[in-house]
Amino acid sequence: MTFDTLIDRRGTHSSKWDGMEAYYGVSPDDGLAMWVADMDFRAPQAVQDAVKAFHDVGIYGYYGDYGSYYDAIRWWMAERHGWMVDQEAIFSTHGLVNGFALCIDTFTKPGDGIVLFTPVYHAFARVIAAADRQVVECPLVLEGGRYTYDFDAYDSQMTGSERMVVLCSPHNPGGRVWTKAELQAVAAFAKRHDLILISDEIHHDLVLPGNKHIPMTHIDGIEDRLIMMTAATKTFNIAGAHIGNVIIPDPDLRAVFGRKMNGMGMSPNCFGPLMVAAAYSPEGAEWVDALCAYLNTNRQHFDEGINAIPGLRSMPMEATYLAWVDFSDTGMSPAEFRERVEKGARIAANYGDSFGTGGESFLRFNLGTPLSRINEAVSRLQLAFKDLQ
Ligand SMILES: Cc1ncc(COP(=O)(O)O)c(C=O)c1O
Repeated sequence: MTFDTLIDRRGTHSSKWDGMEAYYGVSPDDGLAMWVADMDFRAPQAVQDAVKAFHDVGIYGYYGDYGSYYDAIRWWMAERHGWMVDQEAIFSTHGLVNGFALCIDTFTKPGDGIVLFTPVYHAFARVIAAADRQVVECPLVLEGGRYTYDFDAYDSQMTGSERMVVLCSPHNPGGRVWTKAELQAVAAFAKRHDLILISDEIHHDLVLPGNKHIPMTHIDGIEDRLIMMTAATKTFNIAGAHIGNVIIPDPDLRAVFGRKMNGMGMSPNCFGPLMVAAAYSPEGAEWVDALCAYLNTNRQHFDEGINAIPGLRSMPMEATYLAWVDFSDTGMSPAEFRERVEKGARIAANYGDSFGTGGESFLRFNLGTPLSRINEAVSRLQLAFKDLQ
């Protein structure tokens, strides 16, 4: 397996490559797409083989017998995360944004507050607002250049109308792998304010060497209010399969959610379960280990190049392939630094303010691409900010 191969994704219905001109004015002719969170790598061979075998039959009928799908999920969580999952606790949704929307619909009412620790993955706030609930922003604080929490401040913000809190673990966009003490503090906060705790752990496999992710299920005393969300899609670069899991340890919460799922008439498309079953395998595990080592090299090259530009700071990444770069020390407005990145460097990167309060002076760069492209991006950025050198 090699992650060095440059694959031309233009004209393949790729949101990242084929959508960047419309969003950022960066032409795919010579632009670099570093925004949407999917990678420019082929999925593991085992996944490609499973799709090919299915495709060779040429009949795309209703999918049945989810046994291998559930077995694979349970095997992966036990093997990779030390987490024993009951099959009855697993619900398959059309991805985690969909899973989150279903949780909002099931466990909260219009007008209720839902707490986000910002900056955080932008779709959370979008879905909360679209469901007529209130986004309650609790800004993360910077300590030694990394994000952490300030629960005294959050406690004083609570009004009693909050019903749910969302944790992004590991953290997108800050790349943090939360410590056990931080997870315990999040759990205690949820209990203090009687909130359902959603733990979105979609990035839990993309942990860089030297760091260890702890699933929220490993934290004591939270089980009766905890909803886990996981997916194979981010890990194995199969996001287009639109499949993910809401996993609910508590039987009572599970029963309520199960009724909602039945009421929605939801079931996965035929490709999702077979891709997940193939991915959550020993071959998949080997691929992910190699991927994380590769991403770590990308991160080192990117950080070294970016931190050499006066005024730019790349946050140390412990997980994900998403680099979070602060431009505040350039003294430029967001419009000014975006112009240099898009027009000067011809790079499409996510705007920090879309991640909520605290993200205004940042851009998020996707490093899930061959190293040669990372090096090209760094050279272009160094040139675009040359006058600061
Ligand atoms: C934290 C987080 N949750 C959910 C998603 C999207 O999940 P899905 O594609 O399953 O809806 C992303 C995508 O980047 C993410 O970063």
